[in-house]
Amino acid sequence: MASKLLDWSGVQTSLHVFFALLLVISCSNVSTAAQAAPAEASIYIVHVSKAHMPPIFTEEEQWYSSTLASVKGYEPQEFNREQEGPIYSYGTVMHGFAAKLTEAQAEALKSVNGVLLVIPDDALVELHTTRTPHFLGLNASSGLWPSSNYGADVIIGIMDSGIWPEKKSFWDTGLSPIPERWKGECEEGTDFKASLCNKKLIGARSFFKGYEAAMGPINETTEYRSARDSEGHGTHTASTAAGNYVRHASLLGSAAGTAKGMASHARIAVYKVCWKGGCFNSDLLAAFEQAVIDGVDIISLSIGGGVLPFFLDPIAIGSFGAMEKGILVSTSAGNGGPSPLSITNVSPWVLTVAASTLDRDFPALIRLPNHAHYRGVSLYDGNALGRRQIPLVYAGNAGLPGSNGSANLCMAGSLDPADVKGKIVLCDRGISARAAKGMVVRDAGGVGMILANALANGEELIADSHVLPAALVGYGAGVAIKDYITQTDNATANIIFTGTVVGVRPAPVMAAFSSRGPNPANPEILKPDVTAPGVNILAAWTSRVGPTELPNDDRVVDFNIMSGTSMSCPHVSGLAALLKGAHPDWSPAAIKSALMTTAFNIDNSGNYLMDGSDSNISTPFSFGAGHVNPVRALNPGLVYDLDVQDYVDFLCGLNYSTSWLSTFTKGQYKCSEGGSAMSMRPENLNYPSISFVYKQDENSTTYVGSITRTVTNVGLPNSVYTLAAIPPPGVAMKVEPPTLSFGRLDEKKTFTVTCEAGAKSLVPGDSDSTFGSLLWTDDTHIVHSPIVFTWKTDLF
Ligand SMILES: *[C@@H]1O[C@H](CO)[C@@H](O)[C@H](O)[C@H]1NC(C)=O
Ligand SMILES: *[C@@H]1O[C@H](CO)[C@@H](O)[C@H](O)[C@H]1NC(C)=O
Ligand SMILES: *[C@@H]1O[C@H](CO)[C@@H](O)[C@H](O)[C@H]1NC(C)=O
Ligand SMILES: *[C@@H]1O[C@H](CO)[C@@H](O)[C@H](O)[C@H]1NC(C)=O
Ligand SMILES: *[C@@H]1O[C@H](CO)[C@@H](O)[C@H](O)[C@H]1NC(C)=O
Ligand SMILES: *[C@@H]1O[C@H](CO)[C@@H](O)[C@H](O)[C@H]1NC(C)=O
Ligand SMILES: *[C@@H]1O[C@H](CO)[C@@H](O)[C@H](O)[C@H]1NC(C)=O
Repeated sequence: MASKLLDWSGVQTSLHVFFALLLVISCSNVSTAAQAAPAEASIYIVHVSKAHMPPIFTEEEQWYSSTLASVKGYEPQEFNREQEGPIYSYGTVMHGFAAKLTEAQAEALKSVNGVLLVIPDDALVELHTTRTPHFLGLNASSGLWPSSNYGADVIIGIMDSGIWPEKKSFWDTGLSPIPERWKGECEEGTDFKASLCNKKLIGARSFFKGYEAAMGPINETTEYRSARDSEGHGTHTASTAAGNYVRHASLLGSAAGTAKGMASHARIAVYKVCWKGGCFNSDLLAAFEQAVIDGVDIISLSIGGGVLPFFLDPIAIGSFGAMEKGILVSTSAGNGGPSPLSITNVSPWVLTVAASTLDRDFPALIRLPNHAHYRGVSLYDGNALGRRQIPLVYAGNAGLPGSNGSANLCMAGSLDPADVKGKIVLCDRGISARAAKGMVVRDAGGVGMILANALANGEELIADSHVLPAALVGYGAGVAIKDYITQTDNATANIIFTGTVVGVRPAPVMAAFSSRGPNPANPEILKPDVTAPGVNILAAWTSRVGPTELPNDDRVVDFNIMSGTSMSCPHVSGLAALLKGAHPDWSPAAIKSALMTTAFNIDNSGNYLMDGSDSNISTPFSFGAGHVNPVRALNPGLVYDLDVQDYVDFLCGLNYSTSWLSTFTKGQYKCSEGGSAMSMRPENLNYPSISFVYKQDENSTTYVGSITRTVTNVGLPNSVYTLAAIPPPGVAMKVEPPTLSFGRLDEKKTFTVTCEAGAKSLVPGDSDSTFGSLLWTDDTHIVHSPIVFTWKTDLF
């Protein structure tokens, strides 16, 4: 057993080194925005140990300026703090500052006493896009909405592209006064007056010092130098999480109904961190600092970059600092699916949200003259094409000379107007934005478009507000229509638009685009955590750009339909706000646990959630613990709780160096002295899902390993939970004890899961996983955790 433990540790070290290397490689390869900046200097984020501040300084600011003056070669008296000093100093979620430095100055800074890490801010992060309350079973007469008073006492910080404050979703009709503890502000800026805030939108700030230092001044002809949203993304996510009721909402007639956010009385505080050129880490960290200081309860972050070691990842650092103050950070899993290992935002203290469909659809029927017909989706619901057959051409056969095989994708300038004029054009999905292809077809004289999924998109149907009558079809239908075109002279087609339908089966289905596990940083932590609606979501929109986000789309809409994990994340942020409202004393980990252990993985047809990319059964690598179920999350029975020290011990278990660890602990926490090797093993973090990793070598024959978990009773004082377990196929599993008896609330019980499995023959670099379940149930609650067992060779 002892040697097994050492093997476990080895996994961590090698992965660790591996990812550190990866980072170095990607840093040097990527040509970054920062490097393209006019000056040679770029932004660096500097972590310090405050304990090492020389006693001659009374405040950190002096220390930072003096340190900068010395590495920049100034005498203290000639140092211009305004121009050369820190652009931000941080004291809440991290200790340190951001400053503009040359490479040589950054190098020199690394050897200054008290400086822990100097990290270039060139890892630009990016933005990852109503029927949902009804689909989620939220109900005005009972359950989470009334129990939480619709989240009225909860403040959700939205870090995104800003907000269009005048939209009805942000009116404060029916809201009680702003919670007194609120310390935030409504900052004035371009086209943004402080008077735009109200009892719904209680704060609005923007963070661009890092952006401007790297990219030059914000171009005010294309975007607002304020919290006003010129992109739409932030308006959409904010209204999904906490938009107020808006009757008769729709996008050009589609998805009509009353639009409402998940927590319709929760307060919104906007932190604009993303600009047209991207979202800078230094700005993001400053927003985290401010949100914590202002007093938000939940942070919603539909933003991500690549997977980095936690100490280099600003989202991991910022959200750790937020978690320390009791704030849950809900993040998007990313849109890199269906490839394995595409998951992002994987730190265990954030809630990582995947995306799946609703039971709402926008069907369109493609009719061919041979009576064949194919189902697609479209947000277009007019009858501009009439019922007649219209000439149909495959864009791949309608390219201009020299379009180099890009015509099939309907890339800008690739189509020959002579071939497409007056026709319906079939374009392949990929590379350019779906709606941009419609613009290309229209500009070349086409009258309609059929967009066909690529193989990787499978049968997943995403609706867009195209600028011409258009429908998206699945991969299979696309192949069939192309076959028809190939085999027919003068092919024709017709598209019939039928408007919005609800009650679609099966639903939910995992979106093909939703990023998938396994977790590349720490396979011992299953990611994503949950899935939520993220396909064809209706929410408020900016008035600055049309619904397709394309430059020449001049339509102004109040609502838009978007898809992405960016859209599923704020659903869960809103639900977390409701849980916080109903259970103000719950920790971020308890809220997360409640959402995870009550999630479901059976769709409305009674089958396991389907994978939209291949119509096969999906796995916890797509949906984590399952689809959120707010009705049950209100009363989960048991929770897997965690405090700051547990997460610190998790990092200790990764054998972080002192300076890496200090970026999180800030001198306030140490690795537990009494912590046994067992409690420091990352798989023993008290997470609501369980992941065994069997790292095989050439001599491996059998694996035996145990993981412990502790549950806290938040259900009925006197209760007895019994076990129901489904071992992952190929694994023998034992849980001890098989019964947990509680005599009071908040009582904790610990259990151990032991797995035994034979080695698999794997090619080096390969891995294989199987999935099981662990259920604790009294007669009222079912507490479910997915179990993953992974066989892997050295590196995968
Ligand atoms: C951490 O380092 C210690 C001492 O070198 C070692 O015993 C332990 O196995 C390592 N743990 C991990 C997870 O690498
Ligand atoms: C809300 O719940 C009540 C009681 O469970 C039920 O009668 C009612 O139909 C539900 N309303 C909706 C809109 O689902
Ligand atoms: C700002 O954007 C506009 C519109 O794209 C462009 O014409 C102009 O040159 C830009 N100004 C600067 C200073 O880059
Ligand atoms: C097509 O490809 C050729 C050779 O790769 C290149 O010279 C030409 O510029 C390309 N044309 C277009 C329109 O991209
Ligand atoms: C296709 O259209 C051309 C030009 O209108 C016509 O000459 C030809 O007969 C048509 N072919 C068929 C099979 O209808
Ligand atoms: C569906 O999943 C099963 C089991 O993992 C696998 O054997 C099969 O190849 C999959 N089918 C498709 C179409 O991917
Ligand atoms: C496998 O066993 C052989 C013989 O005992 C030993 O020399 C070798 O180092 C072992 N390999 C590993 C990876 O432990």
